[in-house]
Order: sequence, then structure tokens, then C-alpha cells
Amino acid sequence: MDIQEQVDLAPYNSFGVSQRAAFFAEVQQASDLHQAREFVASRHLPIMVLGEGSNVLFIKDYPGLILYMNNKGKELLPGAGMLRAAAGENWHELVIFCLQKSLYGLENLALIPGTVGAAPIQNIGAYGVELEQFFVELEAFDLKTGETRYMSKSDCQFAYRDSIFKQDPGQKLVVLSVSLQLSQQPTPALGYAGLKEALTGEEATPQRVFDAVCDIRRSKLPNPKLIGNAGSFFKNPVVSRSKYETLCRAHPGIPGWDTEDSDLVKLPAAWLLEQKGWKGKQRGGAAVHENHALVLVNKDNASGEDIVLLAEEMSSSVLQGFGIALQTEVRIV
Ligand code: EPU
Repeated sequence: MDIQEQVDLAPYNSFGVSQRAAFFAEVQQASDLHQAREFVASRHLPIMVLGEGSNVLFIKDYPGLILYMNNKGKELLPGAGMLRAAAGENWHELVIFCLQKSLYGLENLALIPGTVGAAPIQNIGAYGVELEQFFVELEAFDLKTGETRYMSKSDCQFAYRDSIFKQDPGQKLVVLSVSLQLSQQPTPALGYAGLKEALTGEEATPQRVFDAVCDIRRSKLPNPKLIGNAGSFFKNPVVSRSKYETLCRAHPGIPGWDTEDSDLVKLPAAWLLEQKGWKGKQRGGAAVHENHALVLVNKDNASGEDIVLLAEEMSSSVLQGFGIALQTEVRIV
């Protein structure tokens, strides 16, 4: 494994911000991770793992070693509908591969930027579907012990945009591959109103669901290849039902979704931000997307600091206006 020094991270994060990594290496196989582990241990350096950098915002130079996961491989496993993909595979290409192999379930997760290895970290989700519904197990390298382990769904502690990999001990685990159980029969999930609407009068075949999801995403969300962004910058907040009822009296028309817990209601952060006038606003090179108030974009050579300052201003206006503290979905480094 080739370890480079002082590498510009602009090509390795979807915001396209330019910070440097003191050391940077591309991981192509599990054995590279042993070398990386020894390298940082001998120099007492921090280490972090990057997929396609589509959910990260660098606000400073990174003083340690950044590992760019680029191991490849997709294979069907013996069980019906089972497959395994390497962490460095592109997520959207895996969705297309599954459709071609007549393995269904991932259509609603089409066009989510990022790698297969990053998918379980934040339990990616869109249009009424989350990764955990298909997840069977993953293979992870433990940077602390140097061992490889297999982790089941319950080991991963999935929740809304969350997993064990976002907490302290889990951050030492590097995902090497992910195994999924898909269906050999079409299983259209049309719970998201916009998707159902888009397919009105048509048979919801997996291909049509996939196409409709791609169309919806393209109409609302900016393509990170054209304008730097990391999708939703904040999570949708969850509040108590009584807090929601108070908000409804003060702000008639505020949307809310029931959750599994009948005492909790999830609110669209985008709505809260749009009410506070953030859509399309710009601060220096950083801006809020014109079509979606939850998406921050690198409009004009923004630094990570510009983007995070804009995000802080946005979240404090929501705190003042609605008494809700937004949490970032994007990892700030
Ligand atoms: N809305 C506004 N203003 C806007 C945009 C949306 O008021 O500018 C309101 C609308 O009422 C809309 C509601 O917010 O009905 C929800 O908007 P949308 O359907 O676009 O979804 P979201 O809650 O903003 C979440 C995920 C997305 C995912 C979509 C579709 C989070 C943090 N984000 O966004 O995921 O694609 O649902 O399922 O949960 C991502 O994680 O990066 C991401 C893009």
C-alpha cells in the first residue's frame, strides 16, 4: 500500500472542499489495513476511513492517516436472494446490478451517493426504505485489535441514520464487505407519497420504481458531481407528541410523521428551515439549495468553515423559532 503525504482532499469529498490529509492511502484489500494500523501506531497518529466522502465535511486539515476504501467485488451467495458486495463498490451501481440480476428491494435507494461500505454507517434510507431491512451481516476490520469480525444486524445497532459505527468503539471498525438479503419477487414500497403519485396509473414494476426514484431525486437534490453537497445536512428531528401539538397551535400546517413510538413525532427539518427563509440563501461561497432547504451546497469555492458557519446560523434560527435543536447528519471532521 502506497502512503502519500500532504494530499488535497478536494477530490475525495462531495462538498469539494480543499483540506489536506497529512497521510493518505488507498485500501484495495484487507491486508492493507494491517499496514495502516502499524503505521499509525508507530507514529501515534489518528486514522479515519473514507468512502466516496459523500457525508463528510472537512473543516480543518487532517493530522493523521486517511484511508480511502477502494476494494471491489460483488457476488451472489448460495442462499436465494443473498449477495455480498465489497465496501469500495459504488452504492448506486450495486442497486443497478441487483435490478439486472432480478433481485429486488433496493430500488428506492437508487442514486444515493457513496459506497457500499458507508451504507451501514448511517443506515442509508430514502423514499420509505432503509438499508437495515435487507442487511444480513458485514465483515469489519478492527483497527484496535487487528482482527476481522462478522457483525449481525443486532450487533450494528441500526437506527434512523445511525449505527454502532458512529459511536466511539464502533468508529474503530472498518467495513470490508456487506451481505444483503434481497427478494426474488418484486416488493414495491410505495409508502412515500411523492413516489406513489409518480407511479399513478402505472404498474409499479421494480424498474419503474427505480426510474421514478431517480427522477424525484434529480428534481429535488443537486448532483454532487455538478455542485458540491452532501445531501441532507441535518437529520429530521423527533419531538414528543405534546411538543408537536404545541407547535401545531403556533404554526398551523406544520407537517409531522408518526414514528414507531406513538409518543414521538418526526418533523421535516427542511420545512422548519424553509419557514425561517433559508431556501436559496448564500453566505460567502456556501449556500442553501434553491429546491431544498435541507441541502447545503458549495456554490462558489466555499471552505469547510464557510459551510459549517452557515449550518450553525441555520440551526440557531430553528432553535429560536421552534425550540428544536437540529442535529447534523453530515460528519464534521
Ligand atoms: N420540505 C419543505 N421545504 C423544502 C423541502 C422539503 O418544506 O425545501 C418539506 C415538504 O413538506 C416535504 C418534507 O419537507 O414533504 C420532506 O421533504 P423530502 O421528501 O424532500 O424529504 P426530507 O425529509 O427532506 C429525507 C431524507 C433524504 C431522503 C428523503 C426521501 C433525512 C435527513 N433526509 O429528506 O435523505 O432522500 O427523505 O426519503 O432523513 C440524505 O440522507 O442525505 C437524504 C437526501
